[in-house]
Amino acid sequence: MKSILGKKIVLGLSGGIACYKAAELCRLLIKAGAEVQVVMTEAATQFITPVTMQALSNQTVFASQWDARAPNNMAHINLTRQADLVLVAPASADFMAKLLHGQADDLLSLLCLARPMESCPLVLAPAMNREMWQHPATQRNVAQLHEDGSWVLGVGVGEQACGESGDGRMLEPWEIVQEVARVFTPKTLLGHRVLVSAGPTFEALDPVRGITNRSSGKMGYALASAAWLSGADVTLVSGPVGLECPRGVKRVMVESALEMHAAVESFAKQSDVFIATAAVADWRVKQAAVNKIKKTKDSPTPGFEFIQNPDILASVAGGPRAQARALYCVGFAAETQDVAQQTQEKRLSKGVPLMVGNLGPATFGLDDNELLLVDEVGTSHLPRASKEELAQSLIAHIAKSLPAFLRTA
Ligand code: CTP
Repeated sequence: MKSILGKKIVLGLSGGIACYKAAELCRLLIKAGAEVQVVMTEAATQFITPVTMQALSNQTVFASQWDARAPNNMAHINLTRQADLVLVAPASADFMAKLLHGQADDLLSLLCLARPMESCPLVLAPAMNREMWQHPATQRNVAQLHEDGSWVLGVGVGEQACGESGDGRMLEPWEIVQEVARVFTPKTLLGHRVLVSAGPTFEALDPVRGITNRSSGKMGYALASAAWLSGADVTLVSGPVGLECPRGVKRVMVESALEMHAAVESFAKQSDVFIATAAVADWRVKQAAVNKIKKTKDSPTPGFEFIQNPDILASVAGGPRAQARALYCVGFAAETQDVAQQTQEKRLSKGVPLMVGNLGPATFGLDDNELLLVDEVGTSHLPRASKEELAQSLIAHIAKSLPAFLRTA
């Protein structure tokens, strides 16, 4: 992950059952390219061993402010002067209460207080029982820690180790990694609302059968995520895919082209950018059968009459919302040949400022692709890379083009 690659992260564990998730979190941060130094409170060592965390981080763990390994015996200073970020996960109610008051009676709270605030942000991933989370004291502490400049993440909802159910679970490790990536990503789309359509549509023939296509939705999901990392407020209108909703993104699931059209039209009214990655079915059957079409030995092969679906992108780009106030529309042209020419033609015929060309069959379902960006300035090529990397480059391109577009629109 580009924004985390090469970053030095101090991963602090305070006491709580969610410490078991810290092992996976450490692994994911390292996989994303970070260098991780683990620091544990005495309570955390009751839940998971320093041996486990050392093996995963490939660094000896610090758990005491009296650790004589630091030649100057100032681990709290040494560990934070080179760090790019301190992440406390899990952050217990007790640990946050301590931080709030600037108490520093163990190595982890000491280094949180001693870190250079400007260059080393503090991210807290709370984890506790639902009553503890809802307690006014905890909520007061969270608000104040936020006010003091810490990034206090939300909590998950669901079953808790104590057997109760509610708010207070630590976020899943992949969600915390996304939040860390967001801290490091420049907020080039802050204040903007981005709408993304993704995946295939499904056009019913009868209640059990239908027509769809091979779009996996991966590019659209990666774009929604990249826009959120860049500070945008993101809505994702998705056709049927099996992908997890990206962190921070509001997702609306739809099935048919008509449903996607209605959802996109409604959200486009409040958006500044619309990125249409969906592979919308161009046709649907005029009349889907109400009941399952039965096959008997002598029944004729069914025939279907097709009618054209609306062109969602063209209608949104030419609609009242786009004309009344600027809406920067981006299309994705899935071609099988003459990508540059087809992409330019589609850009002009749909009336959008930016059309992205790609070879459909060379990317459906895969994790990488190459793209051709065609706008009024010219053409630029994004060489083969993962869809996450391409999404980040495309979002950077959009963020750069947006101010001039908004000025002239
Ligand atoms: N699109 C859309 N609604 C449709 C068809 C396409 O919004 N009914 C959008 C897609 O989301 C994409 C762009 O238009 O952003 C180009 O889609 P593509 O399938 O490449 O082209 P089509 O317009 O369908 O033309 P053709 O199938 O003839 O290539």
